[in-house]
Amino acid sequence: MQSRRIGDTQVSAIGLGGMPMSVEGRPEDEQQSVDTIHAALESGVTLIDTADAYSLDNRDIGHNESLIARAVASYGGDTSDVLIATKGGHTRTEGGGWGRDGRPEYLKQACEASLKRLGVEAIGLYQFHRPDRRVDYADSVGAIRDLLDAGKIRYAGISNANPDQIRLANEILGGRLASVQNELSPRFRSSEPELDLCDELGIAFLPWSPLGGIARAGELGSSFHVFAEVAKDRGVSPQQVCLAWLLAKSPVVIPIPGSSRPATIRDSAAAVHLELTADEFARLDANH
Ligand SMILES: NC(=O)c1ccc[n+]([C@@H]2O[C@H](COP(=O)([O-])OP(=O)(O)OC[C@H]3O[C@@H](n4cnc5c(N)ncnc54)[C@H](OP(=O)(O)O)[C@@H]3O)[C@@H](O)[C@H]2O)c1
Repeated sequence: MQSRRIGDTQVSAIGLGGMPMSVEGRPEDEQQSVDTIHAALESGVTLIDTADAYSLDNRDIGHNESLIARAVASYGGDTSDVLIATKGGHTRTEGGGWGRDGRPEYLKQACEASLKRLGVEAIGLYQFHRPDRRVDYADSVGAIRDLLDAGKIRYAGISNANPDQIRLANEILGGRLASVQNELSPRFRSSEPELDLCDELGIAFLPWSPLGGIARAGELGSSFHVFAEVAKDRGVSPQQVCLAWLLAKSPVVIPIPGSSRPATIRDSAAAVHLELTADEFARLDANH
């Protein structure tokens, strides 16, 4: 598996997104999710993205973190190089809605809970999930800096941030901002300015919903014909072409496709072997 950099650590160029294994519509049989995580590890995936909020509702907080911790622990092979990236700052409501809480005291408490669920002394990558308009962004990121300084987290990241917030976060973290996680896919291109900034600053950029999101990933080829055309020429899936296109956009890109079946993460992980020609890349990239 090809690797890319988060902070000063190498991780697989394709990560596994854990969300489909814990939100509404998740597999009824938990063994299917464990098999999916094991298939990712067998394919050489060493980055797994999760969040405390990946759950059904407020009573199920931490479902995905606990699942990933259990699956990694039960894997037969060496997992010492696996980086688990989690997030804090999103909350869930009783009916399964999403809320935000960016207060420093809340983030510190959420990080402690994630540490326990993941069963580690320091979280690999801790990301501030989403800005909370009621809290000064600098105060939320200040809590992440405190966690980094206290050794509770190895690397600090942010998510759903604009270029000004990326610059501010990197300043508050004293140049230690390791990653930015924003939405980017053929369907959603508006995070390209943030990607360009990460490329300039040498910060890892993790596109979320890289295939268009849980509900739309299967239709990628029928929604974006050029991806289906290149896929047909190369004898691979349109989803694999999409991930290869994202990888080719910049060496800081590390896509984190979500999966709840072994077959899909195996197919996604193979995207690292798909080298696009300049012409293919130009055709895919022009698809706005
Ligand atoms: N920071 C944020 O605010 C934020 C928001 C959303 C998501 N995320 C993160 O980003 C990750 C990815 O986003 P996402 O899960 O929403 O959407 P996504 O990656 O665009 O799509 C996920 C779906 O794609 C399917 N899939 C994966 N690989 C495939 C392949 N090679 N061929 C065909 N289908 C394939 C999976 O199907 P199966 O389920 O059938 O395997 C899965 O349900 C999440 O899991 C989460 O970790 C972060």
